[in-house]
Amino acid sequence: MVDLRGRDFLKLLDYTTEEIEYLLHVSMKLKEFKRNGQRHDYLKGKQVALIFEKDSTRTRCAFEVAAKDLGMGVTYLGPTGSQMGKKETIADTARVLASMYEGIEYRGFGQDIVQSLADYSKVPVWNGLTDQFHPTQMLADIMTVMEEFGSVKGKKLVFCGDARNNVANSLMVICSKLGMHFACCSPKELVPEEELVKTCQEICKETGGTINFYEDIMEGTKDADCLYTDVWLSMGEDPSLWEKRINLLKPYQVNKTVLDNCKKNAIFLHCLPSFHNTGTTIGKEIFEKYGISEMEVTDEVFESSQSRVFEEAENRLHTIKAVMLETLR
Ligand code: CP
Repeated sequence: MVDLRGRDFLKLLDYTTEEIEYLLHVSMKLKEFKRNGQRHDYLKGKQVALIFEKDSTRTRCAFEVAAKDLGMGVTYLGPTGSQMGKKETIADTARVLASMYEGIEYRGFGQDIVQSLADYSKVPVWNGLTDQFHPTQMLADIMTVMEEFGSVKGKKLVFCGDARNNVANSLMVICSKLGMHFACCSPKELVPEEELVKTCQEICKETGGTINFYEDIMEGTKDADCLYTDVWLSMGEDPSLWEKRINLLKPYQVNKTVLDNCKKNAIFLHCLPSFHNTGTTIGKEIFEKYGISEMEVTDEVFESSQSRVFEEAENRLHTIKAVMLETLR
């Protein structure tokens, strides 16, 4: 019997395979309730605080809607809205918030910050993205894979691009925990930290998963069930790095040739937001400066019948709801 009451959700390494599978199972149930219009305000009367030191569409909306569906009150603390870090330490903020709220979400910078919030707070703390990990995103990604294929064990998921970021790190962890085959197509300079790779390889010995790295995208994506990519410059990185990153990552763009190299029924995933056209301010600037209108994924793949990016985005709601429900029950 899985019991997650009172637990923090900071990184997937802290969770067992059984606990992750349980959260995915609860997410599916909650999705059904939402689809059927069945009330599930099991946490009525509770309050949660959402701290965002960085921008967000999906994560913020998913936490807010999920909290409200569960019957809870929500306070949003934006990048300029609180004293945290400027006039008040993380430790003091954690103790103040924990005296008023039943749970705290944090999106921001170092993993040490979310860890510190958890260390000083007596209520569950949830990681809404740090520089190192993005664990709520992974639950939604794997839920989408599960919906597509029925099960995930033994499936091959390939990440293409900057594999040192929070998304690639967390994907490698969840694939290891669930016995999936994680492959990474990236330049040598942009691979995950060696220590994390070793940790995941140890987990794979128990679960039957594998981890492999490729510089050649066609070699790495062969027989893939899921093709995944993320933006070439992460939130908070210096925009002066764009040119270098574009040159490094151009060969790892997910395009039709790459998608066609995967299994016939492969799906495309992206945590979003994505630069697949020039419809954004940054997309336009990049086009004007460097002459490329699509970056990590082509518009053709993004809009293709194999793309599951919007199903994946919706699943942020159901998975985040499952995390809050099970840790606050
Ligand atoms: N994928 C993701 O975290 O999206 P947001 O930045 O919009 O929250």
